[in-house]
Amino acid sequence: MKNSYLNIFAFNKKILGKTIKILNKDKVMGLPTETVYGLGGNAYSKKAIKKIFDLKKRPKFNPLIVHYYNLSKAKKDVIINEKFKKLYKRFCPGPITFILNKKDSSKIHALASAKLRTVAVRFPSHKILRSILKKLNYPLAMPSANKSSRISPVNSIDVYEEFKGKIIIIDGGNCKIGIESTVIDLTSSPKILRPGIINKNQIEKILKMKLNRTKLQKKIVSPGMLKKHYSPGIPVKINQKKYDGKSAYIYLGNKFKNKKNFFSLSKSSNLNEAASNLYKTFRIIKKRGYKRIQIQKIPLKRSGIAINDRIKRAST
Ligand code: TXA
Ligand code: MG
Repeated sequence: MKNSYLNIFAFNKKILGKTIKILNKDKVMGLPTETVYGLGGNAYSKKAIKKIFDLKKRPKFNPLIVHYYNLSKAKKDVIINEKFKKLYKRFCPGPITFILNKKDSSKIHALASAKLRTVAVRFPSHKILRSILKKLNYPLAMPSANKSSRISPVNSIDVYEEFKGKIIIIDGGNCKIGIESTVIDLTSSPKILRPGIINKNQIEKILKMKLNRTKLQKKIVSPGMLKKHYSPGIPVKINQKKYDGKSAYIYLGNKFKNKKNFFSLSKSSNLNEAASNLYKTFRIIKKRGYKRIQIQKIPLKRSGIAINDRIKRAST
């Protein structure tokens, strides 16, 4: 078994050098972030972007997030505004992605942003990724390191299981946040396109304004809003009150402690902790051979909104 994991590397100075060399050759790699693992490559390179789409089997109309070390690097590619500056100051580096207008002089390859005039930019806080981004002369286009429509990986073994020996993976431990970044569109009146750990209330406080309620739009503004997404590969039923006797049952709290088939996302019902355990729990359940998943009602507040968004999609 050990041999098959030889393409997962622990991070050190020597591996940093190797990583830079690999990325400079327009190759793509599995890299850790604080949210989920990503499949990263040079955002200015057609060759790298194509590889990302091919490996993920991602539809070409679904744009990628471009990851930067800091604001001064991002300014070369996108037009920033006052609202962005406020949110950047408060939350970055961290688990939030901004949709901004692309500069005419931007070097981001058109395929990365699916030929849109806008770009999704993010400033991840994971130490390993930051040390890599600091050394590069280009940003990294990086979707979650999973095949299209599946759940995101939250440790290096998860990435290995998605792509086997096809890519080199850098180990950065378990992702602390465990679900994807909040995506907010700042090209017109601010709109949350994908809820995350940084929630609407926190953003409203910083912007000193109310945001519209995040709802599933008909028009695809963010293809991540496609309904079928984040599927663990077995049927998922949400808002379940009664246990059916054979499914894996996901819940909050410790009411069913030590009971077979019951999986708590957080013993203390903490919603951030629950979010961080969601994908991990899906994977454990799948591996144990369960045929279906039932999920108790999760409160629709703070990080519970992001959890409900993901489990709703997992259930369609
Ligand atoms: O936490 C994260 O954001 C992770 C880590 C690896 O950084 N990345 C991630 O990427 O979740 P991905 O590709 O799985 O999701 C990117 C989301 C998609 O829903 C995509 O449609 C949306 O961002 N997006 C990208 N560019 C966009 C744009 N120009 N306008 C609207 N939505 C955009
Ligand atoms: Mg994804």
